[in-house]
Amino acid sequence: MDHSVRDLLTNLGGYDLCITEFLRVSNQQLLPPRTFYQLAPELDNKGLTPCGVPIRIQLLGSQPETLAMNAQRAIELGSHGIDLNLGCPAKTVNKSKGGAVLLKEPQLISNAVSAMREVVPLDKTLSVKIRLGWDDPSCVHEIVDAIVQAGADEITIHARTKEDGYKAEAIKWHYIAEARQKLVEQGKPLSIIANGEIWTKDDAIACRKVSNCDDIMIGRGALATPNLAAIVAGISEKMSWIDVVIMILDYRKVQVIGSKGHHYSSRVKQWLTQMRQAYPEANELFFPIRRIKTSEDMQQAIERYLDAKINNKLTQWQQLYS
Ligand SMILES: Cc1cc2nc3c(=O)[nH]c(=O)nc-3n(C[C@H](O)[C@H](O)[C@H](O)COP(=O)(O)O)c2cc1C
Repeated sequence: MDHSVRDLLTNLGGYDLCITEFLRVSNQQLLPPRTFYQLAPELDNKGLTPCGVPIRIQLLGSQPETLAMNAQRAIELGSHGIDLNLGCPAKTVNKSKGGAVLLKEPQLISNAVSAMREVVPLDKTLSVKIRLGWDDPSCVHEIVDAIVQAGADEITIHARTKEDGYKAEAIKWHYIAEARQKLVEQGKPLSIIANGEIWTKDDAIACRKVSNCDDIMIGRGALATPNLAAIVAGISEKMSWIDVVIMILDYRKVQVIGSKGHHYSSRVKQWLTQMRQAYPEANELFFPIRRIKTSEDMQQAIERYLDAKINNKLTQWQQLYS
């Protein structure tokens, strides 16, 4: 989710915070400011999306010193705290000792978080994003312990192991409740945020109940139903499909800075694929436009679709694009 999507989604309400995509740091390299600005142009706006929701930069890596120096830079540039990614399951990322592979090494986690804590001021949140473990969910306790001892303020728990991948049936929110309970018993009140498989308001209610967490994080569900956060917060009903299409057209105006000619077109296709879960009409729009390449053609096709949909002329539109 890049800054343009953050802009659109936060504008629909219900969000308290956005975490950026991860920034990979390695080889003792302090990344130049422009890399941070590319990832998070919000830094030019006091670290806030245009409608005022704070953003936090996420780092991915395993070298404590490298993580610390880049964390310090992100804070200096205006990030609202720092998040460390220990959940990414991608092979290429894990091979270079980043993301979920660190879940196997609580001592390394502890070293990394401690080094970051030394440079992240106490009034800025240091958070860590984890899965329950590599292949054994009961490892979550040792992992959480290492993070707490090292001085982090928040942990977001994606309630699956790395080996579970994204299997819906593998979600285990109750492990989050257990981890939270242990912290309470140890007198270590630390913010825990529950994550995974929240697609609807009912899912959010169930997740909160089972995980015993008030705070939740949504990922894919936020793309499938653009105003999901506002629905969960009780401030909106689900957007109509027509409003979603209008939003997709608005997305053309807030594209990534310096993006190439086909960027909008490929993003729309990706996004419609995500939306199928929540809006069956996404298929109706997707199939006829799936071969369109340029952003101009894509915009025109969607404008015509919107017009046809509103005026009950869908068959003519489909003939035009078949
Ligand atoms: C395409 C994709 C990219 C992701 N990128 C990140 C990332 O950069 N950092 C991160 O912490 N999690 C990332 N995640 C994981 C999500 O943050 C989230 O933990 C996961 O999708 C489960 O939550 P959900 O069911 O609400 O999507 C990504 C997930 C997907 C599907």
